[in-house]
Amino acid sequence: MHQDWTTQNIVVTGAASGLGRAICVRFIQLGARVNGLDVSESPLLEMQSSLGQNFSPLACNIADRDQVSANFAQLATVDVLVNSAGITGQTNLKSQETDPADVERVFQVNFFGSYLTSKAVLPGMIARRYGRVLHIASVAGKEGNAGMLAYSASKAAVIGMTKVQGKEVAGTGVTVNALAPAVIQTPMVEAMPPEQVKYMTTKIPMGRCGSLDELVAMVEFIVSPACSFTTGFTFDLTGGRATY
Ligand SMILES: NC(=O)c1ccc[n+]([C@@H]2O[C@H](COP(=O)([O-])OP(=O)(O)OC[C@H]3O[C@@H](n4cnc5c(N)ncnc54)[C@H](O)[C@@H]3O)[C@@H](O)[C@H]2O)c1
Repeated sequence: MHQDWTTQNIVVTGAASGLGRAICVRFIQLGARVNGLDVSESPLLEMQSSLGQNFSPLACNIADRDQVSANFAQLATVDVLVNSAGITGQTNLKSQETDPADVERVFQVNFFGSYLTSKAVLPGMIARRYGRVLHIASVAGKEGNAGMLAYSASKAAVIGMTKVQGKEVAGTGVTVNALAPAVIQTPMVEAMPPEQVKYMTTKIPMGRCGSLDELVAMVEFIVSPACSFTTGFTFDLTGGRATY
């Protein structure tokens, strides 16, 4: 189905790298207006010079309430929010070896960040009777990856939030869904201990990582007007690892 994206105002968090960056590039190609938000500002400015005037950088730490309020208050309308910002924190550690400060930091970004940004956009979407919120969760939140307590538990919290928000907005024209990818080669994965990456990739029945093209194609569908009868759901992108 052909979709006119030129009317759509899209916010992507975690825009400066990996999945978020690929999502921004795709929506710019489709003609949408994209606000790329990230705590890391200089890559956003480089993206602006290559992607053109439909791309607007937003320097913001999503774990900081005041920064999220200030940045979202200056946006006119938001049709689509994709929450891709996330961190792994320390990995390859048993739960009893974790540092509580690190666990807290991961929750602040992965859960609270997605909570704060979605809380900021939902009232406007509901008032206009249209919107798409997509939280990028992880298969770790469904299955639990040994060695990744903070990451897995924070992504499970995101999946729980998606179920709640998805039901709360049902019938308003707004949908809230999540996406649970397995491993997709990005700077986040490159920064992890090789043993931890091996643990995750050997669990994929297709025997390979997902590609950014596969990720972007699924995101494009989930946040399109055509995806209108699914809310509160966590879409799978795991090469067969999670079949539910
Ligand atoms: N790459 C994978 O295999 C994979 C698999 C499953 C889920 N995910 C999820 O997808 C999302 C994107 O991952 P990625 O691989 O692209 O990672 P990445 O590290 O390449 O990019 C993440 C981006 O988020 C930004 N960010 C981090 N903390 C932030 C904060 N407090 N405020 C604003 N921006 C912040 C970083 O600066 C970075 O640009 C994450 O939520 C991740 O958990 C990734």
